[in-house]
Amino acid sequence: MSKIKTIGVLTSGGDAPGMNAAIRAVTRSGIYNGFAIKGIYRGYDGLINDEVKTFTTEDVSGIINRGGTILRTARSMEFMTKEGMEKAYETCKKEKIDALVVIGGNGSLTGARNFANEFNFPVVGLPGTIDNDLYGTDATIGYDTTMNTIMECVDRIRDTANSHERIFFVEVMGRDAGFLAQNCAIASGAEAAIVPEETTDVDQLACFMQRGIRKSKKSCIVIVSESPKCGAMYYAERVKKEFPGFDVRVSILGHLQRGGSPSAYDRILASCLGAAAIEALMQGQRNVMMGYRNGDAVYVPFDECIRTDKPFDKRLITVLDELSI
Ligand code: F6P
Repeated sequence: MSKIKTIGVLTSGGDAPGMNAAIRAVTRSGIYNGFAIKGIYRGYDGLINDEVKTFTTEDVSGIINRGGTILRTARSMEFMTKEGMEKAYETCKKEKIDALVVIGGNGSLTGARNFANEFNFPVVGLPGTIDNDLYGTDATIGYDTTMNTIMECVDRIRDTANSHERIFFVEVMGRDAGFLAQNCAIASGAEAAIVPEETTDVDQLACFMQRGIRKSKKSCIVIVSESPKCGAMYYAERVKKEFPGFDVRVSILGHLQRGGSPSAYDRILASCLGAAAIEALMQGQRNVMMGYRNGDAVYVPFDECIRTDKPFDKRLITVLDELSI
């Protein structure tokens, strides 16, 4: 195995608050430990098109508090092809990049795993996604900030919901995972959450609405995980039709959930995992994502974190049910 001298770092997929803190940590820890660091712009597309810049410690100054990613990001279709990966490998050879740190979610780490396997190339991943849906890590970079953003939004929605005595269906991101919806429902004192991990039909919906009203609650907030078929609009329409006595509104929070300055938790998580990624490469680790479990940085093989569904803690459903009476 040849010695690693230069490490490339890129962000890929949906941006997440704390990605900049991770880029900073990889760069500073890499330079501290004697490596050259190259920033790769626009995710895997930038690797294919040779959008690469040598980073100094100054290049990552003043970014720990900034949302988004200074490296930009993309969901590269070309990198999913053999030709695309070959072009990316050519860039690595040209730029003398001997190892990669990839910051992103499931799709990005799948790309990282495929590239590492195809070219026997050292790659370490960092979990960067607001969805928190990666197996093997208690938290992902961006999740905490987004939860706080959603909580603040729901607090505001509660004011108007109370004033007008309305039912609000608030749709949050999370793609196929309900971590954001379930935990934000608890954090914001919502009456219910509708998550993909739990099948909820309209009768259950009616149950908790009526329960809320019986307890003389004049308004009700239901947090719904985004879904192309049964998002907030779907539930609101059904309630309007089947329970016409209720005044229903929908609020889809959308991409504002991904922006904003990262929380202290996300900055610390990103800093520790970024430094741990460099340490991992120094120890000869390959094909792993850096996870964070019970206060420790751990290595999670790509195959494990990509293929395994993160377990959903069903006790959270009970907690919400009990507390929303
Ligand atoms: O994976 C992060 C995420 O924010 C998901 O929660 C959401 O479904 C998706 O990205 C939205 O992606 P886009 O940026 O393509 O709209």
